[in-house]
Amino acid sequence: MPKSTIVTMPGDGIGRIVLPEARRVLDAVGFDADYVTGDIGWDLWVREGNPLPERTVELLAEHRLGLFGAITSKPRAQALAELDPARRAAGHAYFSPIVALRQRFRLDICVRPCRSFPGNLLNFVRRSAGGGYEEPEVDAVIFRQGTEGLYAGIEWTNPPDGVHAALASHPKFASFAEVPRTDLAVSTRVFTRDACRRIVRAAFEHAVTHGYGSVTICEKPNVLRETSGMMEEVAREVHREHPDIRLRSTNIDAQLMWLTKNPEDFDVIVAGNMFGDIVSDAFAGLVGGLGFAASGNIGDEVAVFEPTHGSAPRYAALERPIVNPIAMILSAAMLLDHVGDPARATRIRDAIAAVVAAGRVRTYDMMRLPGGSDVLARGAATTTQLTDAIIAELG
Ligand code: NAI
Ligand code: MG
Repeated sequence: MPKSTIVTMPGDGIGRIVLPEARRVLDAVGFDADYVTGDIGWDLWVREGNPLPERTVELLAEHRLGLFGAITSKPRAQALAELDPARRAAGHAYFSPIVALRQRFRLDICVRPCRSFPGNLLNFVRRSAGGGYEEPEVDAVIFRQGTEGLYAGIEWTNPPDGVHAALASHPKFASFAEVPRTDLAVSTRVFTRDACRRIVRAAFEHAVTHGYGSVTICEKPNVLRETSGMMEEVAREVHREHPDIRLRSTNIDAQLMWLTKNPEDFDVIVAGNMFGDIVSDAFAGLVGGLGFAASGNIGDEVAVFEPTHGSAPRYAALERPIVNPIAMILSAAMLLDHVGDPARATRIRDAIAAVVAAGRVRTYDMMRLPGGSDVLARGAATTTQLTDAIIAELG
């Protein structure tokens, strides 16, 4: 295996806390790589007017592998207010650097595995008919289209003439025709057949290689006939390449209901960008929440792995860090799978499983405590202690 160079992008807030913890685990498991740091996030926006500097893009283009922590995003007015005054006149506009990274490198296959660790207090439980309770094993993998749909960024308030004219050519626009343009906001949902095919194909291939029985397309084709309809059409076509895998279809709203009734019924789920964002958070909530939710953004050339949580600024400045590093460490394990080192990835996941099952070392979220500086006095582990426990189990 050629030695990898990994671009680490801690970003903001707790991203800077959890990313070095993942790095410690990668070192402890004996993964031999070089690391370079990429600047990204709020400070870069404030200082340079660009949260994703070109030098970071170049590092990723060169090394092709990234580990990302989290960034802070703030609304437009606040972003401008915090920008270095010397740059305010230059027309800088804040954008989410992780969304931009996905688009820039076409990281269109966003994979979010949601698997319960036995013994996790946060696992989904339900009442059983006999009066007790049961804890079904959740093992779902969400394939979220990462570059298109409602997050493509094609949107306007006060749409320009050409856009307004195009909208007005649609019969359904008649009821909006008299709305003053400044009171009209439009966010478009663009799907392409090629991107649908790529995400559906990746999902089926994952089902085949990991032994899952079904792929569920989670969209809303009865209402979003064009975009969701295209995803469904492509899925039926790709299904012919994998007839042994069952193809299922749910609507996003019903899916959120089903997953809190029978989460064990779902294997691989495919959704567009926004529905994938929603359904993956919902599944993550069944297996431990944000502290456990890992993801990979995978393109043909570049791949970036990240926890799905944000920068949790409230917890970033505590003297002793309390946040859960597991989501970040699981993201690093996904990176190992991606570079063809599944043995080390499995060792990491097994070590996490052992620590969770033993239940002796838990960050505050794993104990269901509200976050705050008092959680350590109440028996919660620090971020570092939890990582240490995982490293001790690596064997
Ligand atoms: P968040 O994920 O940062 O935090 C929400 C809550 O989840 C926290 O208050 C905390 O209680 C809990 N939490 C998150 N990560 C945790 C961890 N590792 N261990 C224990 N508890 C954890 O989401 P929020 O508060 O909505 O956003 C904060 C900032 O992060 C915003 O500026 C937002 O734009 C940004 N954000 C960035 C993302 C990214 O970088 N991919 C994703 C989501 C939000
Ligand atoms: Mg999200």
